[in-house]
Amino acid sequence: MRVKEKVTVLTGAAKGIGRATALLFAKEGAIQVLSDVDMDGLQETYDLMSDEEKNRTIIMRCDVTKPDDVKNMIDKTIESHGRIDVLIVNAGVVRVGDVETFPDEDYDLLINVNIKGTHYTCKFAVPYFKKQKSGTIITLASVAAHIGQEVHANYCSTKAAVLGYTRGLALDLAPYNVRVNSVSPGATDTPMLQSDVGKQAKDRGIPYDEIKKEFEAQGVMGRWADPKEIATGILYLATDDASYMTGADLRLDGGWTTR
Ligand SMILES: NC(=O)c1ccc[n+]([C@@H]2O[C@H](COP(=O)([O-])OP(=O)(O)OC[C@H]3O[C@@H](n4cnc5c(N)ncnc54)[C@H](O)[C@@H]3O)[C@@H](O)[C@H]2O)c1
Repeated sequence: MRVKEKVTVLTGAAKGIGRATALLFAKEGAIQVLSDVDMDGLQETYDLMSDEEKNRTIIMRCDVTKPDDVKNMIDKTIESHGRIDVLIVNAGVVRVGDVETFPDEDYDLLINVNIKGTHYTCKFAVPYFKKQKSGTIITLASVAAHIGQEVHANYCSTKAAVLGYTRGLALDLAPYNVRVNSVSPGATDTPMLQSDVGKQAKDRGIPYDEIKKEFEAQGVMGRWADPKEIATGILYLATDDASYMTGADLRLDGGWTTR
């Protein structure tokens, strides 16, 4: 068990990469605090665990755009477990569209969840990490942080911000023995990507499967990732196997950014 008894806080655990990560960390012995705004999905994640894994898991509602929610999640973790070993800042949203017609409210949502949500999640945990002088933070960036993606300019800008935030925080926390890294998934088969492809299919009047093929062709491996293949990268960063890694980004993109 690679994260046995590591106190792990994970946002956006109701589906997709968050759910796959929660289930992997459960198998690997973590003590978890899992959160999301989607309580039905979060309950489903919880229900997929064994009784023993459930006993080490707390689920709670937390909207990462609301500082009070995030503070409450971190405070509850400390109250229950006395420390945080791993913080996985996973909650995220995507909105797709041309910039000239991109609704302001969609850009606000992207900024609030992907950028400010990342900040709030770290902000309330950092004092504990500094006090402990141990632990690790893993953020979710994207291929969209590294390269341009058609009709994703607004989303790209928020994921590039996550990379910058991660690097800056890594410097601030290095003296406290706390590592901070990001993961950049490529096209990963989750509800987020499915809705992204669905929206593009509608906007362009092209069948879903054709857009899916375009995405599959982006990575040199010619297929989407299973969310479990991203979860294993997150797990690696959480363990001492990555003990000399900070301020780095782990690209799990099926070769997309090597083109
Ligand atoms: N799927 C991909 O292809 C892909 C690629 C690159 C990066 N990512 C990133 O990986 C992360 C996970 O993506 P996913 O594909 O699993 O997405 P998903 O939509 O399948 O799951 C995201 C989860 O975040 C939750 N969430 C949304 N807004 C929230 C909020 N305000 N507060 C708390 N939770 C909230 C959702 O309810 C959902 O459970 C995101 O940060 C995403 O940007 C995904």
